[in-house]
Amino acid sequence: MKRYELAVIPGDGIGKEVVPSAVKVLQTAATLHGGIQLETTEFPWGCDYYIKHGKMMSDDGLERLKNFDAIFLGAVGDPNKVPDHISLWGLLIHIRREFEQTINIRPAKLFKGLTSPLVDPGAFNFLVVRENSEGEYSESGGRIHKETDEIAIQNAIFTRKATERVMDYAFKQAVLRKGHVTSATKSNGIVHSMPFWDEVFNDVSKRYTGVRTSSVHIDALAAFFVTKPSDFDVIVASNLFGDILTDIGGAIMGSIGIAPAGNININGKYPSMFEPVHGSAPDIYGKGIANPIGQIWTASLMLDHLGEIALAREVLRAMEEVTDAGIKTRDIGGNATTDEVTNKICLQLQNNIG
Ligand code: NAD
Ligand code: IPM
Ligand code: MN
Repeated sequence: MKRYELAVIPGDGIGKEVVPSAVKVLQTAATLHGGIQLETTEFPWGCDYYIKHGKMMSDDGLERLKNFDAIFLGAVGDPNKVPDHISLWGLLIHIRREFEQTINIRPAKLFKGLTSPLVDPGAFNFLVVRENSEGEYSESGGRIHKETDEIAIQNAIFTRKATERVMDYAFKQAVLRKGHVTSATKSNGIVHSMPFWDEVFNDVSKRYTGVRTSSVHIDALAAFFVTKPSDFDVIVASNLFGDILTDIGGAIMGSIGIAPAGNININGKYPSMFEPVHGSAPDIYGKGIANPIGQIWTASLMLDHLGEIALAREVLRAMEEVTDAGIKTRDIGGNATTDEVTNKICLQLQNNIG
């Protein structure tokens, strides 16, 4: 029997609804498999915790997380109660940084049974590899002259080490996929970091002669995600560009409530963390209508990462079959609740594996 220790952080808003759903699916899958055991430990961190304790996680939080095999997180943010830059930097981004989860992987594909808002989406299937440790998300900068003519300075940081690392990861993924990497650039308008980004892309590409490359400015690329998403295989992007592109990825699949993500630690020193692309969706929280598929697909990514590749595939297959049978939440045109979709997916797993 293989045993995995998972740290579970539902977080805020619909994270508290879709995480229990996905854990139920995971446990169903593990039981049916018979050879693996998933040990989950839940942590109550998030904005409610902040309101009580003045911090987003306990002081020994990282220490408590570091020996888990993986972290499974819902969403963070309750913007009416805690400013987003405090809640996100106190929990989600804090873990990403401290656990050196330097790569963020975000797949998107035309999903069986889902209607893309695009008239002719084509059978797109791409992977955005997002730099997850620096770039536009940096603490370098500050605010001065608050009382007079205020200035806010936010420095974007691009190191050769992190840029090479994310590009190398993207090329390795392309070798396993369709052999094409697109670099999201903006070297026409951003005069220092983006020409540097292009140079590193060019350097790294020389190590992968079998992989085709394209370099596309982010504004045009965002439009191509809408007009011809099936042209793409792997897209490598800076932290902010990757963030924006992957909400478009969700949208063209049919809803941001579907899109999965993994924050990957590649040096083996700390666990990786899996969380969907969407946020805490305060506008629908408490109604029981959140789409659990983003969190469940994320669970499948986590199984994949843990090496349980066949089981990961079964979860994805059950999810697609349930969607294809028309059992869907409102955001994708159905009227099922979070629980109904979850239970159907568990049932489907039983039919498929049991
Ligand atoms: P959001 O992703 O939470 O919501 C955007 C829209 O998509 C909303 O209309 C919401 O109802 C809908 N939506 C999202 N997930 C859904 C699901 N599973 N099923 C059905 N509909 C879904 O983005 P936002 O409104 O910009 O942010 C809300 C809060 O979440 C903010 O505090 C933000 O900072 C935070 N946030 C957190 C994360 C994270 O923890 N990874 C990611 C994005 C945003
Ligand atoms: C995401 C989110 C986060 C990000 C926010 C909430 C800080 O949008 O994971 O996509 O920008 O990384
Ligand atoms: Mn985002």
